[in-house]
Amino acid sequence: MAQALLQVEEVYAGYGRGDIIHGVSLAARVGEIATIIGPNGAGKSTAIKAIAGLVRPRQGSIRIGGEEIGGLAASEVARRGVGFVPQEANVFRQLTVRENLEMGAWIDREHFEERLERVHRLFPVLHERARARAGNLSGGQRQMVAFGMALMVEPRVLLLDEPSAGLSPALVAQMFETIQAVNEGGIAVLMVEQNATQALKISQRGYVMAAGRVAMEGAARALLDSAEVSELYLGGRR
Ligand SMILES: Nc1ncnc2c1ncn2[C@@H]1O[C@H](COP(=O)(O)OP(=O)(O)OP(=O)(O)O)[C@@H](O)[C@H]1O
Ligand SMILES: [Mg+2]
Repeated sequence: MAQALLQVEEVYAGYGRGDIIHGVSLAARVGEIATIIGPNGAGKSTAIKAIAGLVRPRQGSIRIGGEEIGGLAASEVARRGVGFVPQEANVFRQLTVRENLEMGAWIDREHFEERLERVHRLFPVLHERARARAGNLSGGQRQMVAFGMALMVEPRVLLLDEPSAGLSPALVAQMFETIQAVNEGGIAVLMVEQNATQALKISQRGYVMAAGRVAMEGAARALLDSAEVSELYLGGRR
């Protein structure tokens, strides 16, 4: 199989007192969406943060296009083409929508207007509310700001930590459509999702994490069809 764009191999990482993730391996290939599901506390966010450079891997390898990025600072990881939308506190609430998007463009201000237009096309409401403070937006709109900021770095890989969390059912569907549109624009996606069924339906690959390890992995379709996954993680619905 061709080498993945993002390749995580046997990563151990935590927050100082022992490891939270134990030998986690993940991959996202060019053009693919991969989804990580699993119970609360499984280490999903920790794995994503290790890739984004916010948690230092104690052991293991993280590569982008073959280049090792494990242990680099978050800013350096971003420069290598990794966009990240964190699970929490992912916008500057005191700044306007436009200012947040400007912050997102810190790596390269040269093509700012072009990128801004692209983000506005994906999320027209961010254009309409450009002068509103992010803190005054709805949760759904704030999530769009965070997504837009990550796109302003022109990523090759986008890491999304629960992008649909807190959204109304209509907005959840819209968020997944946006993720697909972004992916079709050539960006590989690795996301963590609690809306597991919907997320797997737009994914090619899926991972189930439990207790700091990858418990199952495979084609997203196969995970959706698995009785065990369905029973344990998809609420028994298929
Ligand atoms: N900053 C931190 N410092 C210390 N421990 C942390 C920190 N963040 C998370 N943990 C611990 O690491 C473990 C895994 O947390 P993590 O956030 O990676 O799980 P998760 O799978 O993303 O869960 P959720 O579905 O609730 O988002 C938990 O036991 C949590 O308490
Ligand atoms: Mg999490």
